[in-house]
Amino acid sequence: MKTEDKSFDFDLMAPAPQTEPERQYYFMAKLREKIFALEAIQKQPPTYFLETFGCQMNEKQSEVVAGILDEVGFVRTDSEEKADVVLFNTCTVRENANMKVYGRLGLIKHHKKSHPSKRIVLFGCMMQEQEEAERIRTQYPFVDLVFGTHNNYQFAELYYKMLERDAQLIEIWQEPRGIVEELPSERNYSFKAGVNIMYGCNNFCSYCIVPYVRGRERSREPAAILREVEKLSAEGVTEVMLLGQNVNSYGKTLPQKVSFAELMREVEKVEGIHRLRFMTSHPKDLSDELIAYLAESRKCCHHLHLPVQSGSSRVLKDMNRHYDKEQYLELVRKIREAVPDISLTSDIMVGYPGETEEDFQETMDVVRKAQYDTAFTFIYSRRAGTPAAKREDQIPEAVVQDRFDRLLALVQEVGRERSSRFTGTVQEVLVETESKEKGIFTGRTQYNLLAHFPASAQMLGKYVRVRLSECKGFYYLGELAE
Ligand code: SAH
Ligand code: SF4
Ligand code: F3S
Repeated sequence: MKTEDKSFDFDLMAPAPQTEPERQYYFMAKLREKIFALEAIQKQPPTYFLETFGCQMNEKQSEVVAGILDEVGFVRTDSEEKADVVLFNTCTVRENANMKVYGRLGLIKHHKKSHPSKRIVLFGCMMQEQEEAERIRTQYPFVDLVFGTHNNYQFAELYYKMLERDAQLIEIWQEPRGIVEELPSERNYSFKAGVNIMYGCNNFCSYCIVPYVRGRERSREPAAILREVEKLSAEGVTEVMLLGQNVNSYGKTLPQKVSFAELMREVEKVEGIHRLRFMTSHPKDLSDELIAYLAESRKCCHHLHLPVQSGSSRVLKDMNRHYDKEQYLELVRKIREAVPDISLTSDIMVGYPGETEEDFQETMDVVRKAQYDTAFTFIYSRRAGTPAAKREDQIPEAVVQDRFDRLLALVQEVGRERSSRFTGTVQEVLVETESKEKGIFTGRTQYNLLAHFPASAQMLGKYVRVRLSECKGFYYLGELAE
């Protein structure tokens, strides 16, 4: 699904404009000339392979990079081996995200030997770490272009510069320099979309690298967000997910204070928007106003992702989370009282430095009491530069693995039980994809639960009523209901 915001008529012999996004459209026009020339020689358009690691923030930035590549004449391919350009949008939240990228680079180096004009581009959070960019410079000279999270919008300009100089180009900014919007964007779905409402994070949880690679928290102006949602709606989007690392603190940095609940109320008024979602909520900032909004809104989905991280008040204090076990459970109680059918999900970590078996049992207790529909479970990963990484009481791997296995088993047991509560009911489902099995489609309820059911291709992107007949753990088998 393509969004094209602007078209400009440029004198390409003149110097590049200094204002954004005009400057980037100028470089897109320059790139388009080069790509057309290449296409004439190759007798087919050049191709690109783009893979995104990490969270929805990265997904959004990849949409812009893909939008620009499409705009200048590349065609997307799912063959990493054959593609003329391979791009990885990297994540560094846990060590294994980094390992994956390095593993893949080894393979691509090999592909490049038989395809020397192949270009390799790395960007995103991992590149924002100085040591990683340095490692690419010294050990991976076959990587052509590297940029970070703050200058993602400059992709057209950087790619052009890299082609011109024909040597590795690494350009990373330590700080963000303003928000540039209205660039082309290639979305995965025509009917649902994510919208950034803020960037960065100010929380500095002691284990987390995100504030270092994404910079300080910045909220977008409500008018800019509403303009984007209106445009998406005009293009056929009916489900919008508002995105930020801590959406509950939205608006605090704006000259004219706006609360997150106030923003949601405005967004849901946009004509054509049928469902509203949001991610992620930090428990310390979840307001009564937002709970009241969730209870009364007819459009906001009854799904709340409320990461707890740990159930131990002692560990939570050390993590700098600003809530304890009791406060978290009280919040859960209040939400369930106001919105009884809420689907509650979480992120949980084991093996934080100094975590004892007692601390871990507190986490298990929260899982039982909070009754999550589902939760992402993680093994603590030591991230260089974060306060927790400096601690000497890191937990031995075998102990962590054992806790992880026990946690996962409990999360699955509670989740299966919770998810099965809809058996036999009829729910509204947004039809999203056709499954591998022809004629069987997959959709999502407002609770974020998947359902598979027989339907037809005309129903893609539509809301249909589905009887959820059989719960298979975390998804349902069902059939269309009258
Ligand atoms: N802003 C969101 C989380 C973004 S990162 C929030 O605060 O809820 C997504 C998840 O990754 C976190 O919730 C946490 O559970 C996990 N995570 C972050 N840093 C981690 C680390 N060093 N090791 C393991 N998991 C981590
Ligand atoms: Fe990381 Fe904490 Fe910010 Fe979430 S709120 S991104 S866990 S620092
Ligand atoms: Fe990863 Fe960056 Fe998101 S580190 S989780 S992609 S903000």
